[in-house]
Amino acid sequence: MDERARGRRSAPGGAAEIRATFGPAAANYSRSFFHADPARLDEVVELARPQAADLALDVATGTGNTALALAPHVAHVIGLDLTPAMLAECRRNAQRVGAANVGWVQGDACQLPFASGVIDLYTVRAAPHHFSDLDGALSETARVLKRGGHACFIDCSPPEAAREHLHLIEIGRDPSHVLSRTLAEWTQLLGEVGLQVESAQRRELDWDFEGWMANLAIEPDRVEALASKLEAAKGQAARELRPQRRDGRLRHAYWHALIRTVKP
Ligand SMILES: C[S@@+](CC[C@H](N)C(=O)[O-])C[C@H]1O[C@@H](n2cnc3c(N)ncnc32)[C@H](O)[C@@H]1O
Repeated sequence: MDERARGRRSAPGGAAEIRATFGPAAANYSRSFFHADPARLDEVVELARPQAADLALDVATGTGNTALALAPHVAHVIGLDLTPAMLAECRRNAQRVGAANVGWVQGDACQLPFASGVIDLYTVRAAPHHFSDLDGALSETARVLKRGGHACFIDCSPPEAAREHLHLIEIGRDPSHVLSRTLAEWTQLLGEVGLQVESAQRRELDWDFEGWMANLAIEPDRVEALASKLEAAKGQAARELRPQRRDGRLRHAYWHALIRTVKP
């Protein structure tokens, strides 16, 4: 496997970089075209199949979209994130929707502040591609889960032919991006920490490039430069990405892995 897929970064200060990226933009994630879309949240609930007695843990919860989608279906949800400004948004959102069975914890996915074997359902969405040590984060997933507990992962996962080109755009937009993994890499990494894959699929979305840039409040010059870079894709990368201007907006294909696992 490409050693980058394990996500170990030599640079220290991963947490500082994450907070610098997400702190100023936190509120945007409560209304993001992707993160707050009810259809995308239904997709999480369908994948996770939450049970009424579950203690659920949503890691890198951002503004709590996923945690709050699970809350009506489980006994209690903990939303964990590194960025204090995100957790402040979580508290506001929980109050707005009247969710009483949620708690918010500041912490690192790679060093979870929980005992072993206590969580029934672990979820993480749109975040593992930021983790400074994905190997370590997945070991933590397996450690905190009960036997028979489930872990569900939704993260960006382009086809191999488009990955390198899309990586340039991801890094240009967000320096805390590490790498998007392919389904094959995900399956291998999960197997190595003893999580059994029950289902793994990649699905494609018609992606709103400007909306994606707006989530992180990218300045207009950089948006234009990144749009030109995306549109300059060649060969198989271009055939996969299919950049297209429609109704004055740049659209292109974007992919996520949707993976459900169990701890045997
Ligand atoms: C795009 S947002 C996640 C959105 C959210 N999961 C959702 O479903 O709407 C990415 C989040 O990952 C968090 N994050 C990144 N690395 C982290 C880590 N190692 N531990 C905990 N949170 C992390 C950031 O602070 C940020 O809030």
